[in-house]
This record gives sequence, structure tokens and C-alpha cells, in this order.
Amino acid sequence: MKLGDTLYSKYIKSRENADILEDEHSFVTYKISNGELIVLNLFVDKEARKNGFCRSLIVQLEDIARENSCKLMTGNIHLIDPGANETMQAALKIGFKLGTANQNTILIYKNISGDLSYG
Ligand SMILES: CC(C)(COP(=O)(O)OP(=O)(O)OC[C@H]1O[C@@H](n2cnc3c(N)ncnc32)[C@H](O)[C@@H]1OP(=O)(O)O)[C@@H](O)C(=O)NCCC(=O)NCCS
Repeated sequence: MKLGDTLYSKYIKSRENADILEDEHSFVTYKISNGELIVLNLFVDKEARKNGFCRSLIVQLEDIARENSCKLMTGNIHLIDPGANETMQAALKIGFKLGTANQNTILIYKNISGDLSYG
């Protein structure tokens, strides 16, 4: 079930200048800039994990990226985050690749079209 204009979505749009997809179990916030769709935050409710919600959000983002002529989707995994290992495992299964690393942050990316590599 897709949600309507929640208070959180209003906050993200007006205060963070970002967009959001959300349903009752998951959400993702993102921005589009310079031909790149940047995933800012993605969260799936603990009880709902491993049911394809993350994959579904990424598939929807791929469509949005294509509609906006983006060539790349990127995201950051922060190694200090307690969920970093789970996030990395899910990201690789969904088709993200390792891009660059900077101190405690790993940039992951997914090609939207063509055979572009990051960096
Ligand atoms: C990471 C997260 C988004 C995955 O969401 P999810 O809805 O459970 O993922 P999906 O069900 O869509 O799974 C996608 C793929 O990843 C795999 N996967 C998901 N979680 C996994 C885990 N903990 N370990 C190994 N593989 C995992 C699934 O098996 C699936 O692969 P498959 O299709 O080949 O079977 C979710 O666990 C989450 O919100 N975690 C908290 C967020 C967080 O801590 N982020 C830290 C940012 S650094």
C-alpha cells in the first residue's frame, strides 16, 4: 500500500529538498543531481525485512532515474552504522557495485543505462 503525503514526506521535501518513496513498511529518500540519482536513506521495518521491500524501492528508483535521464544511481554505506554489513550484502544482491571508499564510507553505484563505471 502506497502512503499519501505523510508529515515525514512533507518534511523531506520542504526541509531537505529531497524526494521520498514510502509505504507502510519501508521508505527511501533521494535526490537527483547532474545525471545521478543519489539514495540518501533507505529503511525497511525490522519485522518486514527479507521480503523484497528494498528491492522494490530500488526498482522504482531505477524507473525514476531513467525518466530523469540519469546514468547512475549511487548511495553511501557508512561503516560506523550498525547495519552496514546487512546493507552491503543486500546492496550487492540487488546489483550495486563498489565504487569508491573514503575513510569510513563506501560509495556504491548501479548503472542505469549503458556500460558506465564509476569514477
Ligand atoms: C538493508 C535493508 C534495506 C534490506 O532491506 P530488505 O527489504 O530486507 O531487502 P530485500 O528483501 O529487498 O532483499 C534484497 C536482497 O538482499 C538480500 N538481503 C537482505 N538482507 C540481507 C541480509 N541481512 N544479509 C544477506 N542478504 C540480505 C535478500 O536475500 C535479497 O536477495 P535475493 O533476492 O537474492 O534473495 C534493511 O535490512 C534495512 O533497512 N536495514 C536497516 C538500514 C540500515 O541499517 N542501513 C545502514 C546504512 S549504512
